[in-house]
Amino acid sequence: MDLDALAKELDQCEQCPLRKDAIAPVGWYGNPHSPIVFVGEGPGGVEDDFGCPLIGPSGQLLDKALWSVQMTRDRVLTTNVIKCRPKNNRTPDIAEASFCAKLWLERELEIIQPKVIVALGGVALHYLGNPDMRITRDRGQWFRTEQGFDCIATYHPAYLLRLYGKQQVAAKWDVFHDLQAAKARAEMLAPGYQFASEEKVDLFKLFHRRIQG
Ligand code: URA
Repeated sequence: MDLDALAKELDQCEQCPLRKDAIAPVGWYGNPHSPIVFVGEGPGGVEDDFGCPLIGPSGQLLDKALWSVQMTRDRVLTTNVIKCRPKNNRTPDIAEASFCAKLWLERELEIIQPKVIVALGGVALHYLGNPDMRITRDRGQWFRTEQGFDCIATYHPAYLLRLYGKQQVAAKWDVFHDLQAAKARAEMLAPGYQFASEEKVDLFKLFHRRIQG
């Protein structure tokens, strides 16, 4: 099975109640051969509209952060723990996250075999690590996922967007250092891989609203 076949299967998924409140599942975007995979929480409103993970305000900030460590979205791969937007952008609970991730995220990772995973925020950390881990305490520390992948967590861009002033600056530096560490490990394990194109990708040129109106 390759990622394209998995994407076709995902399009048809109706295995849990979250599906009925979303336009459609949102899969992954990026290079399937990337040694580094970024795992967010789940699609928000803009992602549901456009069918692309991390394309809304969080994604725009992520793109800037990636650019600061010479990575572009087309050269890495971004995905989420859950594929359907929960109603009112509610945070998915651990049971919903596990149910969806067992069906999709785990199979994606099995196909991609990334050298490094970056968990963006608490939901991804709880799923890829364990529910006792805390993003404020455990970010920036390497751990091994149940599937055997090296993983490091950092703050979710939505969290950075909620902070102000000195707190925001400090948290952005933390993310910068976490991304540097993740890239350094991926570079060591996949020598010669190009992590950046010459220009940032404009995802809004590549993706269009799934429902007009
Ligand atoms: N937040 C996420 O974690 N993922 C998305 O795709 C969008 C917002």
